[in-house]
Amino acid sequence: MTAIGIHDLSLATAHHVVDLGDLATAADVDPAKYRVGLGQDRFSLPSADEDIVTMGASAALPILERHGRDGIRTVFFATESGIDQSKSGGMFAHGLLGLDPRARVVEIKQACYGATAALQAAVALVARAPGERALVIASDVARYDLDSPGEPTQGAGAVAMLVTADPALVEIEPVSGLNAADVDDFWRPNDRTTAVVDGGLSMKAYLDALTGAWDDFRARGGAPIDEIDRFCAHQPFTKMARKALARLARHTGADLDDAMQEATFAYNREIGNAYTASIYAGLAALLDGDADLAGRRIGFFSYGSGAIGEFFTGVVRPGYADHLRPGAVAAELEAREPISLADYRALHAAVSPSDEDSETPRVTRAPFRFAGLRGRARQYERTETR
Ligand code: CAA
Repeated sequence: MTAIGIHDLSLATAHHVVDLGDLATAADVDPAKYRVGLGQDRFSLPSADEDIVTMGASAALPILERHGRDGIRTVFFATESGIDQSKSGGMFAHGLLGLDPRARVVEIKQACYGATAALQAAVALVARAPGERALVIASDVARYDLDSPGEPTQGAGAVAMLVTADPALVEIEPVSGLNAADVDDFWRPNDRTTAVVDGGLSMKAYLDALTGAWDDFRARGGAPIDEIDRFCAHQPFTKMARKALARLARHTGADLDDAMQEATFAYNREIGNAYTASIYAGLAALLDGDADLAGRRIGFFSYGSGAIGEFFTGVVRPGYADHLRPGAVAAELEAREPISLADYRALHAAVSPSDEDSETPRVTRAPFRFAGLRGRARQYERTETR
């Protein structure tokens, strides 16, 4: 059977960075609560001229520059921080990226799980027509109320993946375990810019979805626990993935060490929760940070509040390291501009009415920017800096 999976993967994040040490000091909280208790160091914050579209298109651009646009028949844009109720974020990205008009473009939503639904759908489409390629973009801005427990777990980022036959990075294996349950753990009503969350319930729902998905995965013939070499889980904050592995160890009776997932934390500790992109930012960090992955099987656990969990596996391809972009993410993280807490709070509180035309200030150095509203429609443009 032809291997199908992730041929290329690229990560982009936002212009600003907020240090959780500063946030802790201002909130009179021990910084160790954030750094150790949550496992987070900083979070990315979009400038006024950035959003899910600019980050998503910026993540996809290096992939298209390397592999061209031919044969990309599908663009899946996964997000839970959509900028329009009707038009897909993918449609804006399709235009910015100069993709072929003979393509299906759609936005997919189920909280943080959307990108995995997109990846699996892309794999299925390529299985049907192995000459075609699919572009999956996962992009999100995680926002909680100021001074709420969720605030230190905010973040922003996007991951783009090219799904093809005979992939260079990771073959996605066919067996998947699923667990869906209607739970009110986390949601964002249409009239809110921040999420509503029951923190304790959300962690319980995540862990229940993990064991449910694992049981289904095994019942369908998925690999036994001792044939899984690495773990890559959704990371609303990296400590959550440690809780997940500990739960899976108890559930299966296996001795699972955090060393199996430590490398997946490097980027999410820095960018914060990137919702749909989080698990794939974990994969990006694993591929960049662990030199010994060829032929190894990764167990993925994807979670989306509301709630669904999916457990699936992928096998890293021989020669994968020759297809990475060494240092690219580190440079992007390093280039972020620190922002004062006062300016962060002002950006957080800013409202942008959708019925008045406006122009955004030029701030971002990313390849694309959100220019404002004209005729009440969102305008995006290529920046001059790249
Ligand atoms: N030094 C070291 N650790 C410390 C500490 C200190 N001084 N003070 C506290 N801690 C530890 C606590 O022991 C705790 O660790 P354990 O859970 O391992 O015991 C950790 O820091 C957090 O402390 P609290 O439980 O007191 O934290 P909190 O109640 O203030 O907030 C939270 C935690 C509920 C997760 C909150 O950040 C939140 O609401 N986050 C958003 C929701 C979320 O991310 N849920 C995760 C599952 S849902 C999901 O995955 C979807 C998604 O993306 C949102």
